[in-house]
Amino acid sequence: MNQPVTARAHTNIALIKYWGKSDPELIIPQNSSLSLTLEPFYTDTTVTFSNQLTRDQVSIDGQQLTVAASQRVSQLLNLIRQQANQQNFAQVISINHVPTAAGLASSASGFAALAAAASKAAGLDLDRQALSRLARRGSGSATRSVYGGFVEWQKGHGDADSQAIPLQEKIDFDIQMIVIVLDPRPKKIASRAGMARVVATSPYYPAWPVAATKDLAAMKTAILKKDLNLIGQLAEANAMKMHATTLSATPPFTYFEPETLQAIDLIQGLRATGLSCYYTMDAGPNVKVICSAKETPAILARLRQHFPADHLLVAKPGPGIAYL
Ligand code: DP6
Repeated sequence: MNQPVTARAHTNIALIKYWGKSDPELIIPQNSSLSLTLEPFYTDTTVTFSNQLTRDQVSIDGQQLTVAASQRVSQLLNLIRQQANQQNFAQVISINHVPTAAGLASSASGFAALAAAASKAAGLDLDRQALSRLARRGSGSATRSVYGGFVEWQKGHGDADSQAIPLQEKIDFDIQMIVIVLDPRPKKIASRAGMARVVATSPYYPAWPVAATKDLAAMKTAILKKDLNLIGQLAEANAMKMHATTLSATPPFTYFEPETLQAIDLIQGLRATGLSCYYTMDAGPNVKVICSAKETPAILARLRQHFPADHLLVAKPGPGIAYL
């Protein structure tokens, strides 16, 4: 039996979204994206390769997965076995540290932690760029969770250069997020299926990578200027452009729930009172508010009038991958 290795990876929320693949097998995106890694939400994953095992055994939050459910994990392990010339199956024990019922259990932190723990346990010594490319094969958003702070996933041209780079691992100005948990249930249409349907059917999709590329350049400038309002405006507009593509797919769909629109309305209202707060959303109904730590107490006070206090989670920027 080889030594167990444990890695921790934090989840990230995209300010410029990844939406649509040019190569679904290698998970090469149609556009580059940019995210903020979050401190309080992370996954700890321990991997042990052993010649005693007859198949990969995967448990998430104490639940043993079936062979079918662990297929995506085994696919990533297969890539690692090939690279490392490792013959053995692996035991994978993964714990998501996300406040109860947050519905944020994320493939980003999960596959980044798996890539780090499994590659090391298999005897590979990968640098962060290689880890980022490996994590990408598990889930696109995991590409960015290798690094802390602001991270850019450069779409590249193929497997060799589609990877994340750190833009600012330690952020030197006041920015964080408040997650409004509206529905902790699993998403109705997984992001993978949702983006595939959009790419295949939405007549508006070709406009997306063009717009996202412009938004990304503007976002990088906004970050350099430490301009919270500009960052928020760009993130909000980019997220809504992404969500517009779901409405124009066949069959059409949306990740919005009635409460999502209420939250959006509320944030717009708070902004009209002079608070700097902006929203973004991923492939689910939860709303993430981009704001400063300084104004968080005032924003929280207002949000608490509409949402239960334990559905409002404050998240400051977090670090990249670490071995425990
Ligand atoms: C809306 O990374 O979950 O959150 O690559 O198919 O595993 P796969 O998809 P995933 O998609 C994330 C989409 C998003 C935007 C983003 O995180 O950039």
